[in-house]
Amino acid sequence: MANYQIAIDGPAGAGKSTIAKLAAKELGFVYVDTGAMYRALALFFIREKIGAGDIEGLKQALKNVEVTIQYEENEQVVMLNGENVNGLIRSEEVGKMASATSPVAEVRKKLLSLQRKLAEETSVIMDGRDIGTAVLPEADLKIYLTADASVRAERRYKELLARGENCVLEKIRDEIIERDRQDMEREVSPLKQAKDAVLLDSSKLSIEQAKNEVVRLFRAMGIAGQKP
Ligand code: DC
Repeated sequence: MANYQIAIDGPAGAGKSTIAKLAAKELGFVYVDTGAMYRALALFFIREKIGAGDIEGLKQALKNVEVTIQYEENEQVVMLNGENVNGLIRSEEVGKMASATSPVAEVRKKLLSLQRKLAEETSVIMDGRDIGTAVLPEADLKIYLTADASVRAERRYKELLARGENCVLEKIRDEIIERDRQDMEREVSPLKQAKDAVLLDSSKLSIEQAKNEVVRLFRAMGIAGQKP
């Protein structure tokens, strides 16, 4: 059976992971969350007390870190030097650090081969910032999933509240805009819509509608059978 690749890129809080996870389930693909890999490295840097501006320190630290992926009951588990860090990488602090350290070429290189290897093994829906442009440039379907910054901020706000975290909507909106800027303006593999990507704006869509659109786009390609 041939492997298929669906790449979903877009800014923070556009709903990429939720939608990709559901679409993967429906299509029988494996969902690969590449942001989680950058977050795992960020957690390592935080623990080692290396600042995002200390490029030499970051490069040195990379020699002592291994990020691997396991799947448990269809859930991606990120292992940092053998430790399951899934429960430790979702904070705003780690997200910010991931964004601040992901422009470093060595950081990206460290994760690129892992991401490509996962996509070779099975059919995947992979989400991130540079999947359609750099990681899987030959992906069968590329989607650029976005939403208004205020909509994204509100979603993140509700998510954090539900997790019992203290937060202020305005601050989250500012952070999202700053994260977009950082991810879009970096030199190496910046966030941008691939030329051949379909633009999907989820501002006015429910999760279910956005998921259905991803599945529809893939099925509309008529390649859901054996790959030539
Ligand atoms: O999707 P996320 O919020 O978990 O990603 C955290 C950060 O990791 C994001 O702000 C930038 C970086 N990232 C990246 O540079 N490339 C990817 N493919 C995925 C994430």
